[in-house]
Amino acid sequence: MEAKLERIALEAREALLRATSLEELEELRVRYLGKKGELTQILRGMGSLAPHERPRVGQLANKVRQDLEDLLKARTEELKSRLKEEMLEAERIDITLPGTALLTGRKHPLTAVVERIEEIFLGLGFAIAEGPEVELDYYNFEALNLPKDHPARDMQDSFFFGPDVLLRTHTSPVQVRVMERTAPEVPVKIIAPGKVYRRDDDATHSPMFHQVEGLMVDRRVTFGDLKGVLEVFAREMFGPQTRTRFRPSYFPFTEPSAEVDISCVICQGEGCRVCGMSGWLEILGCGMVHPRVLEMSGYNSEEVTGFAFGMGVERIAMLKYGIDDLRLFFENDLRFLAQF
Ligand code: DAH
Repeated sequence: MEAKLERIALEAREALLRATSLEELEELRVRYLGKKGELTQILRGMGSLAPHERPRVGQLANKVRQDLEDLLKARTEELKSRLKEEMLEAERIDITLPGTALLTGRKHPLTAVVERIEEIFLGLGFAIAEGPEVELDYYNFEALNLPKDHPARDMQDSFFFGPDVLLRTHTSPVQVRVMERTAPEVPVKIIAPGKVYRRDDDATHSPMFHQVEGLMVDRRVTFGDLKGVLEVFAREMFGPQTRTRFRPSYFPFTEPSAEVDISCVICQGEGCRVCGMSGWLEILGCGMVHPRVLEMSGYNSEEVTGFAFGMGVERIAMLKYGIDDLRLFFENDLRFLAQF
């Protein structure tokens, strides 16, 4: 029995020293020191020994058990602290490592341009108004002095939902909605940015695009006021060197009407490819609100006058950033968008 004890002691000792994990140690504890463990079995078998042998074997067995328990405890501590060190090592933060750069988004160039336009006109005392994109024929055409058979309707190929409902072809209907709401009060001083829709699709036309409408109605508003406001706008938008030119034009809802050009942003008026050697770039349409439009919306055209203008946001953005294909705005290619 003593020999057996010695063997178990040796075997258990070696196994404990070899163990590399806490799980292994626990297995060994069960195997040797547990209720059904080898050592326990032996201690239980003491009864079969001759009485004079019991004290010696008993002593040895207790010593073996004590030694093994001590060793187990020491190894457990050792493995625990090694595990802790490993975990700390794994979690250590190296503050000298370069960080992972977060991909930051940015404003779409059209959003940036609309916001810049808004900023300029807010600075001039204009408020921002909105209207529906699905619009009634009445607001889109009729109330703007474009009756059903008017040939100027041909300029705006439209998406109709029915005889009287369509996707608005311009932001001008917002003029009418605002005047109807406000009349006969003055002044009216609004801009109306938003989406508009036309049956058009090529490098310079998209079926959906953006406009900003402007409207001012008050007593004694003149063409001089219109010129002043748009000149300030052009200089704020394209730089202080920008000159403007008003060319007579025609719109059914304004009389007189004009188209506004700015000096070419590329060649400053010298003449280049972008401006077709003319030195000028067209940026918007405008005019004095037609008396019939004022009357239809509830104003007395003998008492008040107004000016209006409408510009294409894509066109302004193309000129401002030197972009030659409008479709780039809608393809959502990050290589393009990240440049602004
Ligand atoms: N609504 C016109 C268009 O989309 C642009 C325009 C021209 C608006 C003259 C105006 C204006 O307010 O006075 O072609």
